[in-house]
Amino acid sequence: MSMKCISLWYSILALFVRVALSFNAEPYSFTKSELSLYKEQVRELFYHGYNSYLEYGYPFDEVHPIECVPRKRKFNDPDDINTNDVLGNFTTTLVDTFSTLAVLGDKKGFADAIHLFHGTVPESFDLDSTVQVFETTIRLLGGMMSAHIYATDPRTRVYLGEKEYDGFLLRRCVVLGDKLLQAYLSPTGLPVPRINLRYGTQINPKLIEENNAAATASPLFEFRLLSMLTLNDTYREVAEFAFNRTWELRSDLNLIPMSFSPYTNTIYDEITGIGASIDSFYETALKGSILFDDPWLYSVWETAIHALNAYSKSDWFYSNTGTTHGTAALPWVDALSAFFPGLLTLDGRLEDARKKHLLFSKLWSTYGGIPERWNFVRISPDTKGNKQGNRFSESVDLEWYPLRPEFIESTYYLYRATKDVYYLNVGVRILHDLQHRFKARCGFAGIQNVITGEAQDRMESFVLGETLKYLFLLFDEDNELHTKLWEHVFSTEAHPLWVNTDLRSRYLTYRKTTDGDRDVSETFKFHLQQATDMAKRTRPHRRPIDSAVTNFHGQCVAPQMAYSTGPPNRTGFQDSDVLSDPRLFEIDFRYALTLKNPAWNKGYVPLEMTPELQTHWSLYNTKKCSIPTTRAFEGTIGSRDHDSRLISVHRWTPTVLIYRFHCIYGMKISFVDELWEWDSRWNSEGNSPSSVPSPVPFDLYDVLNHKSCAPKDNGPVHSYTAKAIDGIDLGDNDYVVVNKTTLFIGNSKSEGYASYNRKSQLLVNCIPITNIYLM
Ligand SMILES: *[C@@H]1O[C@H](CO)[C@@H](O)[C@H](O)[C@H]1NC(C)=O
Ligand SMILES: *[C@@H]1O[C@H](CO)[C@@H](O)[C@H](O)[C@H]1NC(C)=O
Ligand SMILES: *[C@@H]1O[C@H](CO)[C@@H](O)[C@H](O)[C@H]1NC(C)=O
Ligand SMILES: *[C@@H]1O[C@H](CO)[C@@H](O)[C@H](O)[C@H]1NC(C)=O
Ligand SMILES: *[C@@H]1O[C@H](CO)[C@@H](O)[C@H](O)[C@H]1NC(C)=O
Repeated sequence: MSMKCISLWYSILALFVRVALSFNAEPYSFTKSELSLYKEQVRELFYHGYNSYLEYGYPFDEVHPIECVPRKRKFNDPDDINTNDVLGNFTTTLVDTFSTLAVLGDKKGFADAIHLFHGTVPESFDLDSTVQVFETTIRLLGGMMSAHIYATDPRTRVYLGEKEYDGFLLRRCVVLGDKLLQAYLSPTGLPVPRINLRYGTQINPKLIEENNAAATASPLFEFRLLSMLTLNDTYREVAEFAFNRTWELRSDLNLIPMSFSPYTNTIYDEITGIGASIDSFYETALKGSILFDDPWLYSVWETAIHALNAYSKSDWFYSNTGTTHGTAALPWVDALSAFFPGLLTLDGRLEDARKKHLLFSKLWSTYGGIPERWNFVRISPDTKGNKQGNRFSESVDLEWYPLRPEFIESTYYLYRATKDVYYLNVGVRILHDLQHRFKARCGFAGIQNVITGEAQDRMESFVLGETLKYLFLLFDEDNELHTKLWEHVFSTEAHPLWVNTDLRSRYLTYRKTTDGDRDVSETFKFHLQQATDMAKRTRPHRRPIDSAVTNFHGQCVAPQMAYSTGPPNRTGFQDSDVLSDPRLFEIDFRYALTLKNPAWNKGYVPLEMTPELQTHWSLYNTKKCSIPTTRAFEGTIGSRDHDSRLISVHRWTPTVLIYRFHCIYGMKISFVDELWEWDSRWNSEGNSPSSVPSPVPFDLYDVLNHKSCAPKDNGPVHSYTAKAIDGIDLGDNDYVVVNKTTLFIGNSKSEGYASYNRKSQLLVNCIPITNIYLM
């Protein structure tokens, strides 16, 4: 395949997109009345789900959407955590829905809902229910707090005067918060994962021996706000202590392990990522920095995202990475990580956000939802020695899709930031699927198995609390959250929360007057002191927090701007940056083996394509000109004993990871991004297509310092191009200069070795990297 062919192919494709855009204005172009039509359709769906819950699920936690009966906790089996973690018998769905009613502007429904809750769940929360601390915090505590803020802020549409609402939700937050605090009385100050609302931590020890970074750090968000609302710093102090301890568990590379013991300092999983078990750590740092105006939390986010970008980011997703060596591990993408593009958007990292969102679009198009865990390398049925095995199931490690909100959440953020119509189009398609695929007699049923298409008779509280809320807001340009200038932040459970100036100044005054002797209860004061002492004894050495890329100039690329300058003004005819991206279909080719439509979802039109475009697509004769692909590689697994070598080579694909990289302009050692792309300008016969600059002169391979790199007769002509350094993408014309003396060259024992050629280009396994020079 020649380069010319590639360019031609893309031009044709781009043309199709444009033709589709101009001649077929829908659904890429949206008028105000269309938007409001979709908005009303979402509203209708919401009430279908909510009324079904009220009729068939209430007063229990959920409704079975197909069977139309309540879904209750297993009262007789407290150890069944799969069922019981979020079902405390405290009307989870109702509480999680309060703020959606507020977002919809349904004042009567909102008031009815909170009063219904008032009359149902005991004020004492004295329930014999063992529940997850994290889930209870984000769904119950966050749900009640958001409702309280909506109800008491005269600017909102659902403001309830003092006659109608006496603030009982806040009092209940205190009761529940006090119960949850019991979880933090562990030797480390990290919370245990579960408590019993009546018996505290007097439960089966097996249920509380392990916790994860998301669960131990995130309650800071709700607890700190609770401290502000109650002017009692105990909640903040305790939760912030746990947040700090979680952050201290990070490795020297600033990567945070996912799971550990709240009783000792033992780390169970030296793996990091952005999905399950760790996702909302990052969310708490960034969103907390905004809600509380806290530069320290922002610096945690910055350091963490910097490390992720350096060690975990690849073209289309963030992969799981070992915390100690920064090598890739566990080749899967979690459904939960679909929230990350939204978080990146919030921080103005739009380019990354757009790319990472696209992968989830492809997953949705392929599987009709986002599989809980997609494995991007496993393709062969032989791995389990089972030739009869379902080929698809090999690439889907966990096969359910319970209508999680994260993909639509990111779609919402990206639309707000870019106003790119592509995201509205995604919303319309999801709306359509909710109407035609997921709507059940008594609510919405997700997918039990994306391979078979089997439905799941469950509607988690986040369907009404988050999924439909974000979808509604996507179409609701005029929502008060968008038009009024109060600075809300959505919690990880999508509850809008904000701190008004009055509250902020009251809290500041409180802090000043109690400084040094805050209202922290004696129990916790004593306890945190003990935990601090323990931390001092056992704390491993940590690299000081710094911004690894500092203010350098020259060929090293500048870090991204933190906050975006706001969406571009788009008026009239709407174009789409996503749809005109020449790499729009790269994912399809790159992951062709692990992204296959299961039979039940065959014929599903991919989100990025109109039916018209797809017709062109399928008619296109791919034999004449094979599908273009830039060979590029994911992941970076090397071997763990990296200290003995300079370079390791990826286990699955020839990706290289260079450990001792040092940019002479100030890049710090060991902050290296390791993604390399095959330079496709040369084909496998070594012929250069006429449309690109002349091919690499042969003496490029004439290596100066490594004899074994002699050119092979008729050998393949290849080169690598470094794509990113230190997590920062390199542009087409960027190059990087590396200090030669800091680079250890040559190691016959290693899988790979480095050298350089007459042009001073770095060679890896005798293959030159065209944009890295040694000096
Ligand atoms: C669960 O909640 C329902 C409704 O509030 C109540 O009738 C029932 O007694 C509760 N069950 C337990 C075991 O707490
Ligand atoms: C958490 O760490 C920050 C930064 O070191 C510090 O300002 C704060 O006081 C710590 N909080 C607690 C509760 O230890
Ligand atoms: C603050 O909250 C803690 C934890 O519930 C409680 O023990 C303490 O008495 C409260 N302080 C005040 C002044 O109310
Ligand atoms: C968008 O339009 C508004 C109102 O016309 C204007 O104030 C603003 O500067 C424009 N923004 C950009 C990025 O052009
Ligand atoms: C390269 O590294 C060596 C050893 O660290 C140092 O002495 C030298 O000054 C560096 N050269 C440049 C150009 O930075």
